[in-house]
Amino acid sequence: MGKAKVTVVGAGFVGATAAQRIVEKDLADVVLVDIVEGLPQGKALDIMQSAAVEGFSSSMIGTNRYQDTADSHVIVITAGFARKPGMSRDDLLFKNTEIVGGIVTECAQYSPRAIIVMVTNPLDVMTWLACKKSGFPAERVIGMAGELDSARYAYFLSEELKCKPNDVKATVLGGHGDQMVPVPDYTLVHGKPITQLLTPERIAQINQRTRDGGAEIVKLLKTGSAYYAPSSSAVRMVRAILKDTRETIPSCVYLQGQYGLKDVYCGVPAKLGREGVQEIVEITLTEAERKALHASAEDVRQNFFKLTI
Ligand code: APR
Repeated sequence: MGKAKVTVVGAGFVGATAAQRIVEKDLADVVLVDIVEGLPQGKALDIMQSAAVEGFSSSMIGTNRYQDTADSHVIVITAGFARKPGMSRDDLLFKNTEIVGGIVTECAQYSPRAIIVMVTNPLDVMTWLACKKSGFPAERVIGMAGELDSARYAYFLSEELKCKPNDVKATVLGGHGDQMVPVPDYTLVHGKPITQLLTPERIAQINQRTRDGGAEIVKLLKTGSAYYAPSSSAVRMVRAILKDTRETIPSCVYLQGQYGLKDVYCGVPAKLGREGVQEIVEITLTEAERKALHASAEDVRQNFFKLTI
């Protein structure tokens, strides 16, 4: 691959920060797209004016036209609304379906070989929608959720256990939201499962804080939602794809029998590389975790079938 090209759609908080992280790490040249005229252009110009200081050599342009995204290797979609007070989950679902559906159709036309990394919520349903709308094989349409949920879990555990967040290898499965499934047996600190380090009660409390991880930030910010950790997590997936690292990253992927689930998008560990999902990793779950994962997948399925696409 020559110089990689990544399109980020949505120049809001998550999108612009993801774009910034990608060029600062020199992972790819970035095209930042938004529907608002001037917004992606202005942010791209501002970020490029930091290049001499930060010392990166990748480029970024902002645009409102999808022609400029042609032949992207990866497309990160962050456009859409975050849930506002008074907005039901279904309102958000239908609103973002309209936005994401249109964007995917445009992007797929100009970059037919790209890999899509979905970030817009409700994440699992939007990822599934992107797969349908693009017509891409499912291994090229992946959602970002598990990596973020695992990163939040790792941070809370590191505070509890007085270690570095990076020393925690956390695993969180399931849909992104209230029904996510932290897996303590596969959450290791220096190789030891946390079930050997903390009481079940304490683990249950940290699991709950992880489930509420996004809501805790919304409550503090009052306007808007989290974007530093979400953009980091999306960029880690972009890096794994561009560098073909094949590392295992909890991701929202299309299941075809794995974990006893079929024809549904849901969060599980997956090896990511140049072709997108290289392999879905099956870990052994307790009966309660398996039930929770199935309930979560069923919720995603029911929401997906509410859409008329
Ligand atoms: N095409 C392109 N861009 C669009 C479109 C569209 N059809 N519709 C909206 N946008 C843009 C908006 O103009 C805005 O700049 O999407 C951007 C969204 O940015 P923010 O409102 O700042 O939202 P952000 O915090 O970035 O979250 C975006 O990521 O984590 C999820 O739940 C979050 O679904 C939300 C998404």
